[in-house]
Amino acid sequence: MIQTTINGRDHELHVEHGDETLVELLRGQLALTGTKLACGTGACGACTVLVDGRPVASCLLPVQYIVGRNVQTIENHGPDDLHPVQRAFMANDALQCGFCTPGFINSAIAFYEGWRAEHGTARPEREAIALALAGNLCRCGAYPAIYEAMTQAIIGDFDEDTVIEPPRYEALDKVTGQASFTVDQRFEDQLEGVLLRAKYPHAKIVAIDASEALAMPGVVAFSELLENDRLSRFAGQPIGAIAAVNRRVARAALKRVKVVYDVYPSAVGPERARQADAPEVYSGFGLFRSPPNASEGTVMPGRWRRNLRRSLISFTDKSAGKARRAVNKARRDKAPGLLELKTNNSVQVHTALEPHACLARWEGRERLTVYLSTQMVHHGARLIAEHFDLEEENVKVIAEHVGGAFGGKQNVTDEAIAAITLAQQAGRPVRVVYDRLEEMSYAAFRPGAEVQISLLTGQDGTIQAYSVDSYGDAGIAVGTGASTIVGLLGPDVPRQTVQTDIVNHGPPGKPFRGPDGPQAMWSLESAADEAAYRASLDPITLRRRWYADDLIRGKLLDWAEALPVWAGREMGQQIGRFRRGVGLAQGAWPFLYNGDSEVMVGATPDGFFVRVGTQDIGTGTRSVLGAAVAKVFGVAPAQVKVELGVSDAPLGPTSGGSQATNSIYGPTVAAAEQLRDELVAAAESELGLARATAAAGGIQHRAGFESWPWLLSQAAPRSATDSRGSEPAFNFLAELILSDKHLPSIGRGLSKSITVTEVEVDTRLGRIRPLGVWKAVAAGKIFAPVLARSQIQGGIVQGLGYALYEERQLDFSSGFMVNANLEDYHIPGIADTPPMEVHFVEEGFESVRGQGIGIAELATVGVAASVGNAVRQATGWRPLKTPIHPADVVKGVGQ
Ligand code: FES
Repeated sequence: MIQTTINGRDHELHVEHGDETLVELLRGQLALTGTKLACGTGACGACTVLVDGRPVASCLLPVQYIVGRNVQTIENHGPDDLHPVQRAFMANDALQCGFCTPGFINSAIAFYEGWRAEHGTARPEREAIALALAGNLCRCGAYPAIYEAMTQAIIGDFDEDTVIEPPRYEALDKVTGQASFTVDQRFEDQLEGVLLRAKYPHAKIVAIDASEALAMPGVVAFSELLENDRLSRFAGQPIGAIAAVNRRVARAALKRVKVVYDVYPSAVGPERARQADAPEVYSGFGLFRSPPNASEGTVMPGRWRRNLRRSLISFTDKSAGKARRAVNKARRDKAPGLLELKTNNSVQVHTALEPHACLARWEGRERLTVYLSTQMVHHGARLIAEHFDLEEENVKVIAEHVGGAFGGKQNVTDEAIAAITLAQQAGRPVRVVYDRLEEMSYAAFRPGAEVQISLLTGQDGTIQAYSVDSYGDAGIAVGTGASTIVGLLGPDVPRQTVQTDIVNHGPPGKPFRGPDGPQAMWSLESAADEAAYRASLDPITLRRRWYADDLIRGKLLDWAEALPVWAGREMGQQIGRFRRGVGLAQGAWPFLYNGDSEVMVGATPDGFFVRVGTQDIGTGTRSVLGAAVAKVFGVAPAQVKVELGVSDAPLGPTSGGSQATNSIYGPTVAAAEQLRDELVAAAESELGLARATAAAGGIQHRAGFESWPWLLSQAAPRSATDSRGSEPAFNFLAELILSDKHLPSIGRGLSKSITVTEVEVDTRLGRIRPLGVWKAVAAGKIFAPVLARSQIQGGIVQGLGYALYEERQLDFSSGFMVNANLEDYHIPGIADTPPMEVHFVEEGFESVRGQGIGIAELATVGVAASVGNAVRQATGWRPLKTPIHPADVVKGVGQ
């Protein structure tokens, strides 16, 4: 027993295990789930609580430490007792998915209290804020707004207890720890499941004996999770799962499971896999049969040559033979206009702070409820139904809040298969939650790439033809496509784009925000920049010669050209240790949408609601829909209930490919307008209000005005539904392949951006410090400007991580990731985040329903390339690989 005070209440608590940590106690025994567990090693700060007013990582703190102390969790400041810091976070939208938010707020409260005691309302320097919050990580990259919120709170802008109307619909839930994520779900009788993972990257699983494990007290079920061929193709591949009364017992039981392996030679990593004597990862696969898919679209047919799989169809070629012949001739002739670069990109891990998690509960053998941290509740329910041979309507998938996804929580993933299988076997609900090592090692990563780009330019810098040959590393998965993306987004001249997957014994890659886009732009935009140097042209002038598009040539490049940082950049060779440079890169992204999406807007005596089977992964979908309905009725967004995150709602889009909001904004407005008109008609026909017309907040009629709440309390409940419908297709064949109600269509046109980055390069230590980022985005109508800005800033932060820090390191002999934690795998923190400016160009998509086409992918595409170009401008040396290693800078600049 220990005695302590938590949130002002004295507790006498039973401590079961000597090594129990505070976070386990809080989330388990006390059900205070506002405190989040993300890394388990004190590196991310998600579990930060205050002990005697000081911020501590509760995942590291043994419970004995809190004896006689005063512990404050996020629940200490509820909705009726908000701290100024919480109000500032809400007002500034200093959050996205919200999983890191409770930890940030506790660190911020400690800083606020300390600063105010010492400095009063003096404005803190940016560095002081960065230092105070350096122990907290936000993978969504909400840092710019966190800086702003922290400053405003400290200078006293939120000292008064005024009502905040936040731009984010669910902000109050997230700043008070009330938002419920999959990892927070719990049933009384639930079991905890853990995965048994293969020890070898390539082996036959001859036998698994779990009898000893099953005999342990508290162990309830074991299930094999093997492919038909009983092969493991990467180290850590799930081969079984065990369910027990708690996680400790389940993990102890794992050690008692005996596995007999027949170990085969392996080919881990692309270098080994492409060697002539490398063992084959797959054999007997034809043109159309493909392994797991690392892309967001359908995998094109491909031809196998041992571990190399070359895509046979390219939508993005144009006069490919002509382009190839021109490039080959230029090579033979050693033509001065030929520019060839070979670029490389390391694997980037998604690193969502909420790990992959699933809680499954069966009702009988036919009905299933699945709480899943997913970005596709509707499609997920369909895939689960297929996998477990159920009727789709008997499967309900729920994801009320999702703590980061970025493309890595699509499809039915291993934790879901394990939890559902074990729950079926045990006859009780089972939860499976990845630990940080599993999340980093196996859950999701952006494939690595090697891209050979060859550009043929005229003397004046104009582009005549190009070829791109790219090789993707998605482990055992296929479907990478950097060259395809170059062809799609690059200049419209003859081009050949060839895409090859190097299949190897590594875990499968997944789509990651702008799949293949950062790799493609790193290659294309590095080459464009280099071409400008060779032609002695300003990079903006060169791009105006390459692109006919008015948006790029005009609005976007004009904006970049007018930036003081661009106009004032230091030209010519710099000397000295610290050198500054400014780089520019374009970005673009296809316009994806789901034409089958359907939205219901309703009115009941309790108020308005909007309902659709999509989810909000921190991108702001909830807020956009709530605001859209509120605007139609002239009421506050808080008066509209937004029901997302359940699969039994009308069909909603996946939150991937920037398709979610643009697929449902238009139908939401249309359904709301239809409902409004019906209510006006009902006011006359049912309630006898003559000459009724809609007005802000209610109905105007001959005898006066009635508010919506009054009207809804009198009229019969009703709803209206509208669906997205189609746009003109980008490509008939592509449309045919994607013709499935759950898959997106490709509309005509691209969203476009320009990113400008200023860096300082320490040429002695090789460190690169971003000083500022400016990004202009042309994606049509911006539905929620504050949230959209935050999305763009988050994408920039992830792009900076891609350029400078993030690199999965795989041990090629064992096949395991060696930096599978948040200390050795560096994602950007608040101190790594420079000031940013975001500019929206909202024209160009007036004919599209809803007039906007999505921004989430575009946010990160092109950012890394702008950093590379800035380094080139500062030093004269061009980095060709991401992340840009300090050692490479020192070596490159010194040459
Ligand atoms: Fe910080 Fe998502 S809002 S991790």
